[in-house]
Amino acid sequence: MSKRVQAPVRSGDIVEVTIDRIAHGGRGVARHEGFVLFVGRALPGDTVKARVTRVRRSFAEGVMDELVTPGPDSVDPQCDPAGECGACTWQRLAYPAQLRLKEDLVRDAIERLGGVKNPPMHPIVAADDPTHYRNKVDYTFAQDAETGEITSGYHKFGAWDQIITVDECLIADERGNAAKRVVDAWANRYDMRVYDRESGAGLLRSVIIRVGYATGQVQVHVITGPTKKGLFKGAELLDDLEASCPGFVGLLHSETDSPAEVSYGAEPPALVGGQDWFDEVLAGHTLRVRPQSFLQTNTAMANKLYERIIDIAQPREDDVAYDLYCGIGSITLALAPHVKEVVGVEVVEEAIECAKENAELNDVDNVEWQVGNVRPILKFAKGVWPDPTLIVVDPPRAGLVPKVVRRICEAGPERIVYVSCNPTTFAGNLPMFQEHGYELTYVQPVDQFPFTPHCELVARFEPIEGFTPPAEEDIVYGRAKPDSRVRKADAAAAFARGEVGGDAPE
Ligand SMILES: C[S@@+](CC[C@H](N)C(=O)[O-])C[C@H]1O[C@@H](n2cnc3c(N)ncnc32)[C@H](O)[C@@H]1O
Repeated sequence: MSKRVQAPVRSGDIVEVTIDRIAHGGRGVARHEGFVLFVGRALPGDTVKARVTRVRRSFAEGVMDELVTPGPDSVDPQCDPAGECGACTWQRLAYPAQLRLKEDLVRDAIERLGGVKNPPMHPIVAADDPTHYRNKVDYTFAQDAETGEITSGYHKFGAWDQIITVDECLIADERGNAAKRVVDAWANRYDMRVYDRESGAGLLRSVIIRVGYATGQVQVHVITGPTKKGLFKGAELLDDLEASCPGFVGLLHSETDSPAEVSYGAEPPALVGGQDWFDEVLAGHTLRVRPQSFLQTNTAMANKLYERIIDIAQPREDDVAYDLYCGIGSITLALAPHVKEVVGVEVVEEAIECAKENAELNDVDNVEWQVGNVRPILKFAKGVWPDPTLIVVDPPRAGLVPKVVRRICEAGPERIVYVSCNPTTFAGNLPMFQEHGYELTYVQPVDQFPFTPHCELVARFEPIEGFTPPAEEDIVYGRAKPDSRVRKADAAAAFARGEVGGDAPE
């Protein structure tokens, strides 16, 4: 039994520490009198005064209160609120050092959490331009208590009730700035109130601005508290955007009374004016993107990511490929010219509608689509769809549930390509692939998110030669609890009709 250590700090204490390394998630790690302290906003080599915010059994958490001496890789931040803003916490770190750290974090996750020693790592793909890459920003409205002035911006680091006003975000596509200025001015012109999540009073919650990197098309989506007649002064905002925002294509409105900090409405968004989609170009295909559909947030690097996916997948003309978690079909369409056929699977119906439209727009006809949850779909597809020789998965940050890993491996593809935006959940999946007869043969980090601790990666798994499946009772990871929400007979019948593949997202 581990010995309980008396914590040398209490919540609220300020202690001076030097940061040894970065933990997964991006906080600095230091020791104070031998006790581990995780420090938000601090970077390797920094000496900081840290304010302790929480003390646990074997470690404490805190946030940098003052930078005493910057670490060796520190540079001057490029925008005013960099020290406080929660959007890009690595702005003080030189770009080569960011890349080095990300490679180290990916390697560490694979070795330590995934149990794979000396992983087949390839050097990280760096961004050509680490600035102004985000094609989607989500600003929260804030109101000055005295003057009533409304601004929009990001949450302050570690303070979910405080907003840092952002005039020109270093990592956002600059073509969205005009839309932001128009929306802020509109909110002030009509004396609006910002929504109060506790009392339910007020109106404005947040605004999402999306920009097609290749097309310059700008979509604006305003989220408010509940309204009776749609977006107040929506026609006026539409006129302003049309007059002053180059590339503007559509204004959407959603409403929600959720007490949580959410950036989507309770219902699908309503179109105030213009069109409810914008176009983007990825891997040479023009893609139609609708408001509820996922799009990689860094288009320039997504092009590089997709190139790496194709290289690592080693597609062949006779391959039958499955693209699981396919979104609007961008990877599916990138794979299509290289293989015999591809099936794209995705739970968001609107995304599959886009995917179908995108296949047509780009004259791609060797693709099939299935709406639904990957887990039951893989079960029902067995023996119905042609057996896959190649499976690509690109799950959300939570990674794959054990049953999905098991079903992917049981489908027996020659290559599995795993695209992950979260190296720690990817690493957590590694022993499951191993247990089901697949080994990691390639790992390639790609820097999709400069100035933040996040890192994307692409990996390949291949069957382990001479693998003998473990006895059923020795299987640890393949046993997920049966999901009581899935009414299996109903789902199977619906699948057979080609309608849906299962229940809500995992
Ligand atoms: C990281 S995105 C990848 C999208 C796409 N591959 C791309 O590159 O644009 C993950 C996608 O998985 C979908 N998704 C989440 N849970 C799912 C599930 N259980 N079954 C099927 N799709 C799911 C999400 O809606 C989202 O479109």
